[in-house]
Amino acid sequence: MKKSWKIISVLFFSAVILSIGCRQDPDISPSKSINFEVPPNWPKPHYAFEGNTLTQAGFELGRKLFFDTRLSRDNSISCGSCHQPFAAFAQMNHDLSHGVNDKLGIRNSPSLFNLNWHNNFFWDGGVNHLEVQPVNPIQSPVEMDEKLDNIMVKLRKDIDYRKRFSAAFGDDSIYSQRMLKALAQFMGMLVSSNSKYDKYMRGETGGNMTETELRGLNIVRQKCTPCHSEPLFSDFSFRNNGLKPSVTNDSGRGRITLAANDLYKFKVPSLRNLQYSPPYMHDGRFRTLTDVLTHYTNDIYPSPTLDPLLTTGIVLTDGEKADVLAFLATLNDVDFVKDSRFQEPK
Ligand code: HEC
Ligand code: HEC
Repeated sequence: MKKSWKIISVLFFSAVILSIGCRQDPDISPSKSINFEVPPNWPKPHYAFEGNTLTQAGFELGRKLFFDTRLSRDNSISCGSCHQPFAAFAQMNHDLSHGVNDKLGIRNSPSLFNLNWHNNFFWDGGVNHLEVQPVNPIQSPVEMDEKLDNIMVKLRKDIDYRKRFSAAFGDDSIYSQRMLKALAQFMGMLVSSNSKYDKYMRGETGGNMTETELRGLNIVRQKCTPCHSEPLFSDFSFRNNGLKPSVTNDSGRGRITLAANDLYKFKVPSLRNLQYSPPYMHDGRFRTLTDVLTHYTNDIYPSPTLDPLLTTGIVLTDGEKADVLAFLATLNDVDFVKDSRFQEPK
């Protein structure tokens, strides 16, 4: 008895000494690089961190910034306020986004994942690079309403940030380009590729589809994937899918290019993780996926830019609708929304 206590206490104290010795925070110690893995059978990403070497310290810095309310004018909201991990980085239960002073935006916060495959950002493609994209919400009066210079003043006062910028970029200068690169490292790492559908496609355990789900996949392949194409479930093009113009008469891509041919076209969103990201469409007008299907079968709004694939709507029987809903559920990736790497840091 006595002897085993001795051994235990020796082990205990050596563990304590060892842990004191290695106390340097792994997130901010000089940087380990991270290998960005493209899921099997997926196309090459549009952005693969060119000129922005992906490291553990850079990613962790990006995560801290993403959830930091100091990026907003009155320090009240962070990127993560409108892009919540449990909602696949969309904003739960808000049709239109809410910014500082609860100012209402004109659009629904989209979910964020697999962003490295997007060649354009926002519902209208107003920005084409992940490292530039955050400037929009930061400066938008209805989102964070803050200036990059002010943010730099706030961050430079924080010793923890100085350490983290130093670990990520080699010295402790804090400036906006570095902040944007770190945010891109965090956002680019948000890869969702572990749904039941993905396991089915890779022939892994957990990927056994039911008859209903397989029938649903078949229907989706005929009627939806011309736009929501596999494996990302979007071809990232701009299309008019027959929604009646929103209350704000948002003309989408047309606002950017001013071309009549682009009026009311919006970027095709992914069909992944829909369970976590209601409501749906650019203005969050539909609360449920059943409402979405009813739109495609019954309520296509005719207009000159309506996508030719939808002029007569999509025909689906009630049974087929149930199959499609069952298949869409196989695109939910619970590993992604629960991934501890992507949660708000403590
Ligand atoms: C007030 C809510 C709000 C805040 C805060 C916010 N966003 Fe967004 N985000 C939105 C909305 C709404 C859109 C869609 C805007 C549009 O299409 O015009 C969007 C779009 C995006 C997109 C484009 C996604 C796509 O599919 O094209 C990215 C990436 C993104 N936000 C990242 C961020 C980052 C990074 C921050 C913090 C710097 C941030 N957001 C802060 C509401 C917000
Ligand atoms: C002609 C191209 C096209 C076809 C075909 C199509 N969609 Fe869409 N879909 C879009 C576009 C564009 C949007 C975004 C529209 C907007 O918000 O203005 C969209 C949005 C959605 C959304 C909302 C997603 C979100 O995050 O808000 C869902 C769900 C959806 N489609 C499901 C389907 C299903 C299921 C089918 C097949 C039955 C289908 N779509 C067929 C182009 C298409």
